[in-house]
Amino acid sequence: MISLRSPKEIELMRIAGKLAADVLVMLEPHVKSGVTTGELDALCQDYIENHQKAISACLGYHGYPKCVCISVNEEVCHGIPGHRVLHDGDIVNVDVTVIKDKYYGDTSKMFIVGGKTSPINQRLVNTTQEALYAALKVVRAGANLMDIGETIQRIADREGFSIVRDYCGHGISNVFHDEPTVLHYRNRNSVLLAAGMTFTIEPMINIGTYKCKVNKKNGWTVTTADKTASAQFEHTILVTQDGCEILTLRPEEEAVIPRILHNA
Ligand code: MF3
Ligand code: CO
Ligand code: CO
Repeated sequence: MISLRSPKEIELMRIAGKLAADVLVMLEPHVKSGVTTGELDALCQDYIENHQKAISACLGYHGYPKCVCISVNEEVCHGIPGHRVLHDGDIVNVDVTVIKDKYYGDTSKMFIVGGKTSPINQRLVNTTQEALYAALKVVRAGANLMDIGETIQRIADREGFSIVRDYCGHGISNVFHDEPTVLHYRNRNSVLLAAGMTFTIEPMINIGTYKCKVNKKNGWTVTTADKTASAQFEHTILVTQDGCEILTLRPEEEAVIPRILHNA
């Protein structure tokens, strides 16, 4: 059973979603050549705990040791912040999940260090964001969960990129990872969407193979099996009668996609 949010819960999800988005906004000017991922993580932790008076959902989650996930170039997700130094041209995903008043907001975006990367990396980043936005535009009560995977698959196929299969979007509320499991690739998992559902869409798209490897030493960091680059964007959304509300929208996105989508 996929649970539905009450009006009171929706209000709490809006607050948590905005806090998660605000962390990415705060971080933007700090993502520069020479900074370490550990330094960026420390900035996030200070902001979440001391400024937002919120909690990182990741810190201590199944033993995860840091506040956010930072995944660089060939890293797909769950990059553990540490001594890795960022360089101009790196493409970097920062994935933030916060808890405020028991409710979760989960979002990630790509940063391009120095503002410029290789043409193929740039196309990968653009395509992944386009795929997330296209998926958001098919969500409404009465749509099928599998429409999301179908939409993302068409865009990835058009560009000759592959879609990660080992990690999925998820229901989210006062639980981090809940039903439904949101597959980002073509599938036949028929689930009718209903107003009041809250879940993430978070496609990970690779230049080369879709296959991934988990770092054996730290047990977390996922890389592409062929070491080609990977990109990811994530939003937490609320399904509405005629579309969806993007609970983690950032101001920089408002020119490109509205917070409230009418898709019916
Ligand atoms: N934020 C990730 C997601 O999108 C989960 C990270 S769990 C962690 O679902 F433990 F690795 F932080
Ligand atoms: Co998520
Ligand atoms: Co996330």
